[in-house]
Amino acid sequence: MVDAALAKRPARLRSPPRLDGAAAGADTVCPRPAYVPAASLVSPPGRGISGTDSTRRARTQPQDRSQAAGDNEKMSEPTAPQRKPESNQAERRRWNDPVWVARWLNRQALTSAVSGYLLDSLAPADGERILEIGSGAGRATLALAAAVPRGAVTGADISRPLSGLARQRAVDQGVANVSFVVADVQHDTIPGGPFDAAASQFGVMFFDEPVRAFANIRRHVLPGGRLVFVCWQDASRNPWMIAEILAPFLPPPAELPPGKRRPGPFSLADREETRELLEASGWEDVASRDHDLTVRVSLETLFEDDALSLYGIAEADHDRAREAVDARLAPLERGDGGYDAPLAFRTVMARAPRA
Ligand SMILES: C[S@@+](CC[C@H](N)C(=O)[O-])C[C@H]1O[C@@H](n2cnc3c(N)ncnc32)[C@H](O)[C@@H]1O
Repeated sequence: MVDAALAKRPARLRSPPRLDGAAAGADTVCPRPAYVPAASLVSPPGRGISGTDSTRRARTQPQDRSQAAGDNEKMSEPTAPQRKPESNQAERRRWNDPVWVARWLNRQALTSAVSGYLLDSLAPADGERILEIGSGAGRATLALAAAVPRGAVTGADISRPLSGLARQRAVDQGVANVSFVVADVQHDTIPGGPFDAAASQFGVMFFDEPVRAFANIRRHVLPGGRLVFVCWQDASRNPWMIAEILAPFLPPPAELPPGKRRPGPFSLADREETRELLEASGWEDVASRDHDLTVRVSLETLFEDDALSLYGIAEADHDRAREAVDARLAPLERGDGGYDAPLAFRTVMARAPRA
């Protein structure tokens, strides 16, 4: 179990923290998350390609390198404007919303807990060039950079504020072999390639055309290069995720336009579907491994009252929604004010064709 940001039960309706060093995106309204609760989206987990690595303990993040600060590369825009205007609009809006981003920063206690698993599966060799997809506020990016001190890591993310925080973090820690690009990885060309490997910690579930996105990622990787990412297993195995509980308080999701898939944290939870999707994107040797890990967190990592408005729940339903959330989280509560969040996640590995 990991003691992550263990804190007392927070006061309700706290205002979000300021996002220093991050220019907020133009879209500041986030009526509701782009994803809908998992029950309506994902099928039950498929049969395993490989076994379950059960209830492993979290590893600590690799220490940030303390070497002399250099001029970190400037955060840049993608080189070519390939983005179709209609792609990933809701996700782009959500991940650029300063309120959502502030909430997201509390969530990192959950995602950061799995970085050791990502690194283990990727096994980066010093000198490699690595593309990290959905790099967020950059914690995993810095861990990857520490693993390839003579190499380089490029973090690409659709969120300008999160990329700004990531870049600031790299500057503060004097890490010179990282750069951050604001990009929609589904379409954009990311500078810094070709890469030896592409990696992602929960950053590849939000594409509305995943085959197109994973094919684009493959084009950035050298022949024989690796893809390793971490995604969530089924929602039923991740009871700390409250989005599903809030479904009854929201109108049904809008119809999907033809050719689009619904993005969301559980969009890759079906193992066989994900394998097919990767193969359709030109990846080979797809394999995966399941993990379970319990992480000790504070309530605000899992839920804050203003999340109800953020999710788009009408004021009149707030009390009932809050009760539903309390009932869902109660079994996870521990006497000391902390919560044990059981994380069920998966590492997925694939290889680009050699020729
Ligand atoms: C769940 S967060 C994970 C962030 C970080 N990797 C971590 O583990 O804390 C998902 C990230 O994917 C990014 N993202 C979503 N859609 C994207 C897209 N089409 N292209 C690039 N990044 C995207 C979001 O902005 C967000 O930072």
